[in-house]
Amino acid sequence: MGATGDLAHRKLIPALYNLGIDHLLPHGFSIVGFARQDHEHEDFRQDLRDAVNTYSRHGRTNAEVWNSFAEGLFFLQADFGDAKCYKQLADLLDRIDHERGTQGNCIYYLATPPTVISQITHMLGEAGLVTPSATGEHWTRIVVEKPFGFDLTSAQTLNRDLLQVFHEDQIYRIDHYLGKETVQNILVFRFANGLFEPIWNRSYVDSVQITVAEDLGIDRRGGYYEGAGALRDMVQSHMLQLLTLTAMEPPVALDANAVRDEKVKVLRAVVPFSEEAFSRNIVRGQYGPGWIGGKDVPGYRSEAGVNPESSTETYVALKTYVDNWRWAGVPFYLRHGKRLPKKETEIAVSFKRAPLALFQHLDANSMTPNVLAMRIQPDEGMSLKFVAKVPGQGIEIQPVHMDFLYGSSFARQSPEAYERLLHDVMLGDSTLFTRRDEVEAEWSIITPILQYWQGQQPSAFPNYAAGTWGPEAAAKLMSCDGRSWRQV
Ligand code: BG6
Repeated sequence: MGATGDLAHRKLIPALYNLGIDHLLPHGFSIVGFARQDHEHEDFRQDLRDAVNTYSRHGRTNAEVWNSFAEGLFFLQADFGDAKCYKQLADLLDRIDHERGTQGNCIYYLATPPTVISQITHMLGEAGLVTPSATGEHWTRIVVEKPFGFDLTSAQTLNRDLLQVFHEDQIYRIDHYLGKETVQNILVFRFANGLFEPIWNRSYVDSVQITVAEDLGIDRRGGYYEGAGALRDMVQSHMLQLLTLTAMEPPVALDANAVRDEKVKVLRAVVPFSEEAFSRNIVRGQYGPGWIGGKDVPGYRSEAGVNPESSTETYVALKTYVDNWRWAGVPFYLRHGKRLPKKETEIAVSFKRAPLALFQHLDANSMTPNVLAMRIQPDEGMSLKFVAKVPGQGIEIQPVHMDFLYGSSFARQSPEAYERLLHDVMLGDSTLFTRRDEVEAEWSIITPILQYWQGQQPSAFPNYAAGTWGPEAAAKLMSCDGRSWRQV
């Protein structure tokens, strides 16, 4: 559903084609595009070939793989509210089952705006297109794109609507950050190594910083972004997921429910913001015109589809706490912004300083604390900062880094996040998808902030120039605690 949209072109179809290249698609695998635009099967195939040529990590299509992939591509023009279209879908799926031997298993991928999810789900149920189970001889599953609702109440309603037709284990709420190699590696790093886990707690950790910086603006997504803003778009989903993976306890097993149980516990332990904390610990910003990578770029209010007096935030920085035995008192600082100087996603764990001030007579700046930085993207890898003696007479100390780079350690390209996630849906593994209680717990953290903001018009937007590291107030949030944002 939504097969002619941006996401299908940029991510979904190239990811499926890439799975084809890696021989990870089952025999007879077929795709039916179900969307509003009118297309013949053949136009649809050509359109998708262009998309794969542009966006696949393997570059231009290989004729043999493409031809076999394209044989399984079909298109049906649809009005999402019209029962007749679902009847036609049922007939087409039936025909494909017989002709291509797909045996009735079906995944519905909703790459559509959130407003039509409940309607489509209901119509699929009414048309008898949903099996009662997620496994067994015949199964159907549904994948729902983000944003999953726009606040707690709407997310709860969406969950209720979905659960009237599908079982929880048939529902795959996607958060593409969980499909990134480096994000999955957080758990491997933490729980497959004995070195860091003993010090991964309030006794040794001073603070944690999570940065998701983007140099891009909002592209052609003004219409969506105006109603979303940075808090909903990135913090509610991707950033809270990074926080849970960093803070969670070891799960009892590597299965979907065990992992998600631990993540939900972290979200539940996030301290609700008090009246005072709303204004002191959360900063929002909006970019004005500026300069990035040698080019002048317009301010947010001049982007297409944006209200010239918009008060939508394109930057958020906040401080929060995870109030449990492991993390009580350790601040977690999160920041995200559009049109910052560069794209960089990083989780940095800062450790407490050494207790004995043997070297206190030296330059205070040289005695920086140990920091473990997990670089999610780009330049995927990790780096551990510690201090070392500068060679020479006397004692001079300088920070140095121990680095791990994916690029040099592994001589193979990582799959795209969507490749991993789509493959997992086919296998029926929902570990990397968000469970019902998890998405609601995320919204429980975010919704009070949205409500608080609603009553407070942001003063002085725009408050940072494109190409800078965000508003002054974000730097102040840190300096009040005697800390500063990392230079990523
Ligand atoms: C999407 C957001 O979920 O993630 C976008 O809607 C954002 O606004 C994108 O740009 C970032 O994804 P990535 O994989 O490029 O970090």
